[in-house]
Amino acid sequence: MTDRYAVIGNPVAHSQSPFIHSEFALACKQEILYERLFADLGQFNQVVAEFVAAGAKGLNITLPFKSDAFRFADEVTERARAAEAVNTLTFRDGKVYGDNTDGVGLVRDIVENLDYPVTDRRVLILGAGGAVRGVLEPLLREKPATLTIVNRTLVRAEALVNHFAPWGQLEAIAYEQLQGRSFDIIINATSSSLHKELPPIPHGLFSARTLAYDMVYSSGLTPFLQRAQAEHAGMLADGLGMLVEQAAESFAIWRGVQPDTRKVTNMLREILA
Ligand code: ATR
Repeated sequence: MTDRYAVIGNPVAHSQSPFIHSEFALACKQEILYERLFADLGQFNQVVAEFVAAGAKGLNITLPFKSDAFRFADEVTERARAAEAVNTLTFRDGKVYGDNTDGVGLVRDIVENLDYPVTDRRVLILGAGGAVRGVLEPLLREKPATLTIVNRTLVRAEALVNHFAPWGQLEAIAYEQLQGRSFDIIINATSSSLHKELPPIPHGLFSARTLAYDMVYSSGLTPFLQRAQAEHAGMLADGLGMLVEQAAESFAIWRGVQPDTRKVTNMLREILA
């Protein structure tokens, strides 16, 4: 029987994961079936249990179930434990293993695809929600010179700093405190781009040596990337590369083969244009 996988979410119809994993499987000559699973809120455990009973081998988890998946797992990796969120479940020998590949996906996109080192660089992250929580441990692992979290609601950023203190040094600030500061890598991990809004960043935040990275991907430039472009940021990137890299890491966990990502990213870029 063909090994079955799926992405579970609510909503899930928009997910590109079935396309990405099918392309990886083709390229790696692996035979898998990858579906979409919708779950009503509060029904995560039940839907997953049914999928497991049907012989499933693994699951990707998207919003809003990453915390449910963390609780569902019998064992989790260090990076998932840090994030308290799981985006990859593996079902093996009657046990459920949880991992979180979002952070490594982001780091690989920045360091390998964009060729921008994180080590010894000053990193700024906008936002303090689940998207940030998922990527902090792998970012800290790169040993940036500084890692700063800015959020409208400062207490949320401070809570993240306290939570992640065992994994490295980071600081929380308010948007007003950005005035006069400069950073090498600025990552927008807020949901502002989904609402076509710009976070309240001061003018002059970007320079020719700044990488501006928006974790949201879209066909045109997000308001954040438009501002970065207007201020002549050295490099602009959206989250499409991260999406494909986090999928590649999940695929490698399940299948033991690291798929090539560049071709699939280019294909998706064309489809989404
Ligand atoms: P997620 O789990 O997807 O990150 P979330 O927990 O709702 O979603 O967090 C959304 C993040 O985007 C928060 O950091 C939010 O800031 P607040 O905590 O101050 O609300 C941030 N955010 C959303 N819209 C924003 C905007 N227009 N400007 C700045 N930050 C914004």
